[in-house]
Parts: sequence; structure tokens; C-alpha cells
Amino acid sequence: MADNNSSNDNDEYANIKDKIFLNKYHCISKIGNGAFGCIYKAQNNQEYFALKFEKRKDQKHSSLENEAIILNYLKGKTNIPNVKSYTSTDEYNILVMQLLGKSLEFYSEKLYSLSIKTVCILGHQILSTLEFIHDKHIVHRDIKPDNLCMGLDYISQKVFLIDFGLAKKYRSSSTLCHYPLVIKKGLTGTPRYASINALKGYEQSRRDDLESLGYVMMYLLRGELPWQGIIAKSKEERNKKILEKKIGISSSELCDGFPIEFEKYLDYVKNLEYTETPDYDILRDLLMSVMKQNNFRYDYVFDWTTREEIRVRDNVEFWLKEEFKNSSSKNKYYIVNRNIKSSRKYNVNNNKNGTNNDTNFNKLTNTYQSNDLFLNLKDNKFNDEVKVNCSSACIIF
Ligand SMILES: Nc1ncnc2c1ncn2[C@@H]1O[C@H](COP(=O)(O)OP(=O)(O)OP(=O)(O)O)[C@@H](O)[C@H]1O
Ligand SMILES: [Mg+2]
Repeated sequence: MADNNSSNDNDEYANIKDKIFLNKYHCISKIGNGAFGCIYKAQNNQEYFALKFEKRKDQKHSSLENEAIILNYLKGKTNIPNVKSYTSTDEYNILVMQLLGKSLEFYSEKLYSLSIKTVCILGHQILSTLEFIHDKHIVHRDIKPDNLCMGLDYISQKVFLIDFGLAKKYRSSSTLCHYPLVIKKGLTGTPRYASINALKGYEQSRRDDLESLGYVMMYLLRGELPWQGIIAKSKEERNKKILEKKIGISSSELCDGFPIEFEKYLDYVKNLEYTETPDYDILRDLLMSVMKQNNFRYDYVFDWTTREEIRVRDNVEFWLKEEFKNSSSKNKYYIVNRNIKSSRKYNVNNNKNGTNNDTNFNKLTNTYQSNDLFLNLKDNKFNDEVKVNCSSACIIF
């Protein structure tokens, strides 16, 4: 795999554009290239999806099949893309999943370096996603900015962890015993963000995902890492040089000029044992302490959030809070459309039986999109994990 963007440039997937797959997904445009295939944005009725294609030729082990199995297993966590289906045609394996926004690599390339606030909110979310997958006995093994995409909801913008093609179980789910610490020849993952132990060929465990996240955060803050652009005769030699450089640079040198908490983060994760359970709270607290010291608000306003988005988001939040204050119902549901350009609100009234008699309601519910945000306003908190039951709902477009 290349230093970073191992992309598939000889465009053998170009003919997918404008075709319909699985009798319903119209592939509109290509949104990503990877080492194993490519990703298209596709439409079915009013909904948009991401379709990941992998050519079936010469495929001994399908990495896409592995990804589909793992994503299905991890279903339910909101920071992991929802999988719709996995199917094989004569030519391709196809994974249909939730459409997301731009990757962190996109924003890093565009803005060069990201602010401390943006990196803290992102890092904090990613830590919780890693804790979730680790609890489910899975390590990702390729944490990098290209594999972290922003969601399309604009109220509580989430960063999603994608690309589980290299993910695998690191321990038995029944005994919780780690698989043995074997030493292999090659590296699994991306050298730029790989942990020192992964570059040495050691079997990966939870500590390696966390070390990679440390390098990702420093890359986003600094705009680059000291071991980028190393020239070598072969992939093996370059990986060796990257390893030497990583070992040679202390955490304090790497984090120089940034809050000391990032250095503490790296020192903590680099000192974890192979089987050790990381204390995710300690790591999250480090990032929250940076937020607190700098009076940053955890408001999902990132370096790329536009004024228009902030304005609409504030309006929607204000409106929902007012609704809650005036509401007698303990459990109220809201459906928020992510298309901020046409922000309007619809009230749905209930009849006495609690069922909905507004004829517009059904019409409106038919226009839901897969990544609409479903909010349940309960105990004065927005909980977006719920699916709406439509007995008392409000739709904001
Ligand atoms: N669900 C999605 N919604 C929007 N964009 C996506 C989605 N999945 C992937 N992408 C985009 O496509 C790119 C490649 O996807 P992915 O990482 O899954 O492919 P890959 O072939 O496994 O890549 P590599 O091995 O190079 O990491 C991502 O970096 C991202 O920009
Ligand atoms: Mg990828």
C-alpha cells in the first residue's frame, strides 16, 4: 500500500457512471477511489446511497465481503455507516451503504492545518467510536484521514469511521483472550499513520488504532508529519525509514507548539501493552481539558462550517427548544431534513386518539431521506438515536 493515498488511477471503474445496478441504484458520480475499488454516489427514488465496488477478477479473498460482514456486525453505532446490502454480480462485489460527506483528508488538503478546536471535537468522537468497535472485539487497523468522513446531518455533525476492509477480531468474543502476538513480515495499514509496533510487523491490538489516531490528530493540526516524502528504492525500505524516523522523534518534538495534552495522549498510547485495555476516558478527558482551557464550545462548528449552516442550525435548535418549553408531551419527535437551503417547518397535529390525521403528513413522511436526522426531545435533551413513531411529530425542511 502507498504512503497514503493508494488510489486506483487507471480508471477501470469509469464505465459504472450512469448505469443502474441491482435494478435500482442509478450511479450518478464517482466520489472516491481506493486500493481495492471505488465508490459511487447513487440514487434510488428520492434517496442517495454510496456504492462501493470491487472487481471480482483475481479475487481470492474479498476485502469487501470482510467489510460487509464487519459493518453488519457493528450495526447500530451512529458513527459507523449503515449498510443496506452486500451483493455480487458477475463482474463486481457491491456494498450499498449510507452516503456520507467529505473525508478529513479532503479538509486537510483544502485548509492545510485544522484548528485545535476542530481536532479536539473530532478526536473526542473518534475515540468513542474506537471504544465501541474495540468493545465488540474488532480492531480497524487503518485509521487515517481518508477513512474518516463527515456525516451529512448538519445539527450534530458526526465524524464516521469507514473502510473496514482491513478490520479484524483481535480477541475471542467468549473468553476475551487476545490472539497471540505474532510477528509478521509486512505491514497491514498505511505507513504514515501506522503505530511503531505495526511497522515492526507486530500483530495489532487496541493500542495501535489509538496510536494511529494520535498521528492523525497531529497531521490535522500540523498539516503534515515529519516522515512524509521519504524516498526509498522499495516499499520495504521506505517503511523501514518511516519506522526509524517515528522512533527517533519524541512525542514532545512531534507535538511542539500544541497543547501538552496531545503529547500526553501519544505517550500514554505508545506505552500500552499488547493486551492492555486502554482507558478511553483518560484520553477523552485530555481533549476535553484542551477545550475547557481555551473556552471552546462543543458546538459542532468546525473549520469548514459555513455561516449559513450555523445560522440555520441555530434557528432549528432555538425552535426545537421553544417547542419543548411549550410542549405538554413528554416524548416528542422531530424529523429534520438535512437540506439546509430549504429550511421550513411543518407541524403535524394529532387527533384525540393520538393518531395523525393530517393528510400532508403521509406525503411528507414519504420524502424522508436515509440520512434525515430523527430527534427525540425528551427530558430536555436531544436524542438522535431514535426512530420516529410518528404519533407526535414535527418535520422541519
Ligand atoms: N459511504 C461513503 N460516503 C461518502 N464517501 C465515501 C463513503 N465511503 C467511502 N467514501 C469515499 O471514498 C474513499 C475511498 O473509500 P474506502 O476507503 O472505503 O475505499 P478503499 O478502496 O478501501 O480505500 P483505501 O484502501 O485506499 O483506504 C474514502 O476516502 C471516502 O472519501
Ligand atoms: Mg480507505
